[in-house]
Amino acid sequence: MMENNNLIDTVDKTRLPKHIAIIMDGNGRWAQQRGEQRVFGHNNGVQSVRETAEAAAELGVKYLTLYAFSTENWNRPKDEVDALMHLLVVTINNEIKTLNDNNIRLRVIGNIQCMDPQVKKELAEAMEKTAGNTRMDLFLALSYSGRWEIVDAIRKIAQQVKDGTLSPGQINEKLVSASMNAPDLPDPELLIRTSGEYRTSNFLMWQTAYTELFFSSKLWPDFRKEDLYEAIIDFQHRERRFGKTSEQIINCKG
Ligand code: IPE
Ligand code: IPE
Ligand code: MG
Repeated sequence: MMENNNLIDTVDKTRLPKHIAIIMDGNGRWAQQRGEQRVFGHNNGVQSVRETAEAAAELGVKYLTLYAFSTENWNRPKDEVDALMHLLVVTINNEIKTLNDNNIRLRVIGNIQCMDPQVKKELAEAMEKTAGNTRMDLFLALSYSGRWEIVDAIRKIAQQVKDGTLSPGQINEKLVSASMNAPDLPDPELLIRTSGEYRTSNFLMWQTAYTELFFSSKLWPDFRKEDLYEAIIDFQHRERRFGKTSEQIINCKG
């Protein structure tokens, strides 16, 4: 399509975000608009995951983190939780080959311990089979919430203090970042949320302190490659000041 070509050409490949995080929202509404059950929306969201991961990898984005299931999502009706877990197992299994063909490494953040043994097994297998891939890291946030991750980090740090290997005075931002689930994952420069909701719903709370936010009105199953390009282009037109003045940024005085 003409429009796709134009948009991808407008993306400045030399100024890509290294890490893009996405809150994939709106599956239920997408299904309801079609008179279908919510799970129909989740099933159709898989194609959006495929397209987004492929588009990000093709552009040269190094890390893509997708919010797939939150700590709070456990409180949904059991039927929906079961359907989501089933979809996760089936999808991961189906996608291993495509991940390997695209040189994408699958990784996970979240409270995986509390997940169903079959889900854990499937995840471990997919991570192992894609471990050697180097083009992009695709992180799934599963049974994840930002506050849970911060609490988890505090526990790790407290344990070191208790063991006498760390003093409270040594606790700094660097150590807290290093105590997160994936210490090597850089903070996202860009966070996208679909479905027209203006909130971050407990996602990457520590890491998004200075992240640029992009809200798309598209429901997740409608999200396509060009929607990712649009978000990146919007991001590239912004001035990231990190507390400095605009003049400092323009004059590159740092
Ligand atoms: C996002 O879509 C998927 C998950 C949270 C698992 P929703 O299921 O939240 O869809 P809406 O927001 O109800 O439309
Ligand atoms: C956020 O979506 C979680 C995921 C996309 C996995 P929700 O639909 O659960 O968020 P709220 O409840 O509308 O904030
Ligand atoms: Mg939702």
